[in-house]
Amino acid sequence: MADEKIIAIVGATGAQGGGLARAILDDPDGGFRARALTRKPGSEKAAALAAGGAEVVAADLDDVESLKVAFDGAYGAYCVTNYWEHFSPGKELAQAANMAAAARAAGLEHVIWSTLEDTRRWVPLDDDRMPTLMGEYKVPHFDAKGEANHLFADAGVPTTYLLTAFYWDNFIYFGMGPKAGEDGKLAITLPMGDAKLPGIAAEDIGRSAHGVFRKGAELVGKTQGIAGGHPTGAEMAASFSRALGREVVYNSVPPEVYRSFDFPGADDLGNMFQFKRDFNEYYCGVRSLEESRALNPRLQSFDQWLDRNKERIPLG
Ligand SMILES: NC(=O)c1ccc[n+]([C@@H]2O[C@H](COP(=O)([O-])OP(=O)(O)OC[C@H]3O[C@@H](n4cnc5c(N)ncnc54)[C@H](OP(=O)(O)O)[C@@H]3O)[C@@H](O)[C@H]2O)c1
Repeated sequence: MADEKIIAIVGATGAQGGGLARAILDDPDGGFRARALTRKPGSEKAAALAAGGAEVVAADLDDVESLKVAFDGAYGAYCVTNYWEHFSPGKELAQAANMAAAARAAGLEHVIWSTLEDTRRWVPLDDDRMPTLMGEYKVPHFDAKGEANHLFADAGVPTTYLLTAFYWDNFIYFGMGPKAGEDGKLAITLPMGDAKLPGIAAEDIGRSAHGVFRKGAELVGKTQGIAGGHPTGAEMAASFSRALGREVVYNSVPPEVYRSFDFPGADDLGNMFQFKRDFNEYYCGVRSLEESRALNPRLQSFDQWLDRNKERIPLG
């Protein structure tokens, strides 16, 4: 319909943007239309979005002109970068700058920037409680996103800064699921001690973003944190034990041990978990469960998410 507002969705074939695209498509009378941006309009994921009613448009975050075309005529945009594709904070910053410039050129009225904390505000580079990585970051995949906030503000783009949270889907896709230790017992390993770990079903990030667009002007210029729960490691292990019908224990390791694990980005994630542990009150406080539920009434708790996804979790 002509009076529907088009939301240009970066990452529509991925977890965050996909959740938003599906939330808009599931709400045909909600006043928004989904425009799915992708580098691969011929992919199966793009075809599924088109079949659901989304407009699929080719765009590349490294190509600002393609973004200007893809944002043109839209009311708003969901902007997200995928750090884990390239492991480059500099690239993330450049892509955010491209999105901010394109949003400005298209005169968008509401942009959501999917961001995280620039942890250097809490742990300056000369603070040696955690190592400096890549010469200028503490948590590279957080810091560049937080640093990029000002790019949207400086460009005069009406932006909501969406502070996302740890995906529970990491237990499926990111190799974080329960693994058998030497004693044969299943364990989840996190360097969080007794601290709470705000988390969320990845699909609920997009649904929350839908709620942010519904609220509109009230959230422009604001930072909005989201989470579906704040469980501790021990509480998540207990949830796994209940859902799987098999004991799962919590293996709490020091951050320095986590940083030494042999997978790409272990040092970045070790610093990230340490930041969440050491600034736990702040980190949980900005990710209010009540506000998240108000934005997204379908918000899942960890137990609800686990009950729906337990068959998909690989047990090592
Ligand atoms: N895992 C977690 O716990 C967690 C928590 C909070 C935040 N995050 C952040 O989430 C981000 C990833 O989001 P996600 O999980 O939704 O990603 P995802 O499921 O891995 O999908 C990546 C999406 O980004 C799009 N994309 C990547 N590079 C692009 C480019 N150059 N041009 C256009 N589109 C591009 C891809 O589109 P096409 O391939 O179709 O072009 C795809 O839709 C990361 O930066 C990560 O730091 C992760």
